[in-house]
Amino acid sequence: MPVKILMVCLGNICRSPLAEGILASKLPSDKFIVDSAGTGAYHIGKQPDMRSITTAQKHGLNITYQKARQFSSKDFDDFDYIFAMDNSNYDNIMELAKTEADKEKVDMILNYLFPGENVDVPDPYYGLQNGFDMVYEMLDETCEILAQKLIEKHS
Ligand code: 4NP
Repeated sequence: MPVKILMVCLGNICRSPLAEGILASKLPSDKFIVDSAGTGAYHIGKQPDMRSITTAQKHGLNITYQKARQFSSKDFDDFDYIFAMDNSNYDNIMELAKTEADKEKVDMILNYLFPGENVDVPDPYYGLQNGFDMVYEMLDETCEILAQKLIEKHS
């Protein structure tokens, strides 16, 4: 059974699609499945934001196949690890948790880069392209550490 990892932001069009693409590129696809979702319903069914697509392409990643969907309590049953991009996403995810085991699956994605600090990946939606470049760099660095830990733990 592959290990399943879910990246979660608000709209599922800017940050978590990048996080999904970046982490998937660092893990063997026969052992790990990476997906993403948004806590909000605004963009269900849409492709990632063009600025995320462009940023991913600059680094050789294709995220155009992704379609936004909303996070639901069923995701606690389907996924082994759930990563929030910011504190607001984290709180919204935790509100849907039913058990302690559900809650233990959830962490802040930047806690691999800044352990225990619960740092937010800033929402780049209302900003410029350079915000997306910064989000990419943060996610790439934290996912590098996360991927090594996942591979060590599950091999
Ligand atoms: P994301 O960015 O959570 O990184 O996908 C956002 C996208 C859309 C909105 C907010 C954040 N919005 O309010 O529509």
